[in-house]
Amino acid sequence: MQGRQRPGNEPWRIGVLFARNGCTSEVERTQLFGTLLAVEEINAAGGVNGREIVPIVYEPGSASMSYVYLARKLMVEDGVTSIFGCYTSASRKAIMPVVERFNGLLWYPTPYEGFEASPNVIYTGAAPNQTIVKLCSYLMRVYGPRFFLIGSDYVYPRQTNRFLREYLVSQGGSVAAEHYVDIHAPRRDFEPIVRAIRNSGADVIFSTVVGQGTSHLYQAYADAGLDPKRIPIASLTTTEAEINAMGCDVGEAHITAACYFESIQGSTNASFVSRFKKRYGEQAAPNVCAETAYFQIYLFAQALEKAGTLDTDVLRPYVLGSSIDAPQGRVSISETGHADLWTRIGRANRAGGFDLVVESQGPVLADPFFLCGPVE
Ligand code: ACM
Repeated sequence: MQGRQRPGNEPWRIGVLFARNGCTSEVERTQLFGTLLAVEEINAAGGVNGREIVPIVYEPGSASMSYVYLARKLMVEDGVTSIFGCYTSASRKAIMPVVERFNGLLWYPTPYEGFEASPNVIYTGAAPNQTIVKLCSYLMRVYGPRFFLIGSDYVYPRQTNRFLREYLVSQGGSVAAEHYVDIHAPRRDFEPIVRAIRNSGADVIFSTVVGQGTSHLYQAYADAGLDPKRIPIASLTTTEAEINAMGCDVGEAHITAACYFESIQGSTNASFVSRFKKRYGEQAAPNVCAETAYFQIYLFAQALEKAGTLDTDVLRPYVLGSSIDAPQGRVSISETGHADLWTRIGRANRAGGFDLVVESQGPVLADPFFLCGPVE
């Protein structure tokens, strides 16, 4: 009876799992904000088929086992089928057996390492082919071919670096060194790494450090007097939220590849940014995670309107192949449940925003298994 438990005008209940506490809360809060803004807008416009969306929001506190416990609670006790949540790939991988066991749909709005597909996950964040290919060629062209890799120690950084290393070497680049730190590492753990960077002769630092460690890394880099204009840290996860947390002066001139930046031109994004700030305050800057969390709720609502039920087996076919005009531009969901997204590269400026230095002509096909090879 999954998803069919609500006759008449009962609301559509969905699960929401983004942390407001713990080491990735800075960025997960932006995902929560994007999610709730979209739900509020849809409800204000009359809901879906006249029925409100009601989010059941739990606090997983950035701890993978809490996501598992809460996903199970959502699906078993609350009767929810669609869950919007998770930032780290560790939390996604942890809850997948629960979502698959109870035939739910996890809507996952975070750039990730690729090489995965599940009939129970909709991946709306970028796969590596949508960011790394363009980022590598830009970095090699502008800064040089020798990369120093530093990441938090879990699946996303290790798998992303495996992909990056292979691609970089195939393009004539090289890896100077590869280091990992615990995701909870304190500031002092980054100091020996910054010394190693200084001695490495690297042209570029590629960081897959996430959460609080991001500020520690960039601050240690600045304190050591390393110059991002000459040797930047490049990342897929250092968004406006992380730059604001570390200090705009510290973040200036570092590089990020993402499908969305607050600074994107165009009326759809201008309107999104203005509604986001009106809801969460002038200081609140939407980033790629907020935008992805936001547009995936609209994709869900669009599919739900047609399906008329939250039953995963009925809803999912309406999601696959669907498209929407998101703040980043037109996006579509492919048959593997991944989103075709725009590729952009931004350089952080003194105001904490990003100046765009590279932009794709349109959405780039999601190729999570890199079957098509590099497409620039
Ligand atoms: C991530 O863990 N996918 C950022």
